[in-house]
Amino acid sequence: MKALILAGGAGTRLRPITHTSAKQLVPVANKPVLDYGLEAMAAAGITEVGIIVGATRAEIEAHVGDGSAWGLDVTFVHQPEPLGLAHAVLTAEDFLGEDDFVMYLGDNLLAGGIGEFVAGFERARPTAQILLAQVPNPQEFGVAALDDAGRVTRLVEKPADPPSDLALVGVYLFTSRIFEAAKSIAPSGRGELEITDALQWLIDAGEPVDSHVVSGWWKDTGKLDDLLEANRIVLDATERRVDGSVDDASLAQGKVVLEAGAQLVNSTVRGPTVIGAGARIVDSYVGPYSAIDAGCVVTRSEVEHAIILADSTVTDVQRLEDSLIGRESTVAYQPTRPRAYRLMIGDHSSVGLA
Ligand code: G1P
Repeated sequence: MKALILAGGAGTRLRPITHTSAKQLVPVANKPVLDYGLEAMAAAGITEVGIIVGATRAEIEAHVGDGSAWGLDVTFVHQPEPLGLAHAVLTAEDFLGEDDFVMYLGDNLLAGGIGEFVAGFERARPTAQILLAQVPNPQEFGVAALDDAGRVTRLVEKPADPPSDLALVGVYLFTSRIFEAAKSIAPSGRGELEITDALQWLIDAGEPVDSHVVSGWWKDTGKLDDLLEANRIVLDATERRVDGSVDDASLAQGKVVLEAGAQLVNSTVRGPTVIGAGARIVDSYVGPYSAIDAGCVVTRSEVEHAIILADSTVTDVQRLEDSLIGRESTVAYQPTRPRAYRLMIGDHSSVGLA
């Protein structure tokens, strides 16, 4: 069994962060989303991993290296244009060969990993196996219709009128029959070769396509709200660990992870929260569900339920919530007259003013 991790997409729904950074490397609880997928492969006993890369290939390749940090043997496969998930599979045909493989979308997070899912496939060995999750907004995903026996009868990509509330999770298991399916379909309305259509082709050809409904949580971290939610879920499951320093005037309450070299100075941090290596929290309050990455400095401010990427500063800000702030950014109150918002924000940014 091999694995194919998709880390090529442009991440348009996470702009402006993805103007400068791959969406798969945006951190959840201070760890890149992609790392959770790599860990899931290793935990399922899969070592031969292909990673599909596109425009952000340099950054992904620099981060993953040869994969040995995860005990994996990683091969990068370049997809010159993001022409769909089924197109990505075809791009990797030489790497995958005749082997069965798990395909994993690099921006997906799945509780409990994929071990059980892989074991189930190896026992029954259908032509393909999909994972489904109940969602409140099925029109934003691939959606499955099942018959009374739970067999997949139909799969549709982002239907206006969903046949069920069962979304396709971005983790799939395939035999090499998928290549013929991917070669037989036409591009969808959004101009992509959809894996959903390739699966439908297999169903139409009478091939067994099994499905499992996930019991734990699943998140596609492609949008801000989902990323914040994934951050909440992962932080909830962390254990308290204080390797940094807490001065006498500070409090680290509850499940706080304070990495080595991080400092709390006259501040209160309430978990679940993670503060990265070397970050400084000075005369401030950091509330639950915050992930403040390495090298950040928060001074005379209140931050809660926010993801702040490495080396950013927040100064004299009354209250910052529900936010995602990119690397090396500055958010500061300025007393200068006239009193005004002074912004320098990237393309496709969004600012919520109180
Ligand atoms: C893709 C698939 C969709 C699936 C989703 C899961 O959507 O096309 O069927 O439900 O991933 O994350 P995309 O992220 O390309 O819009």
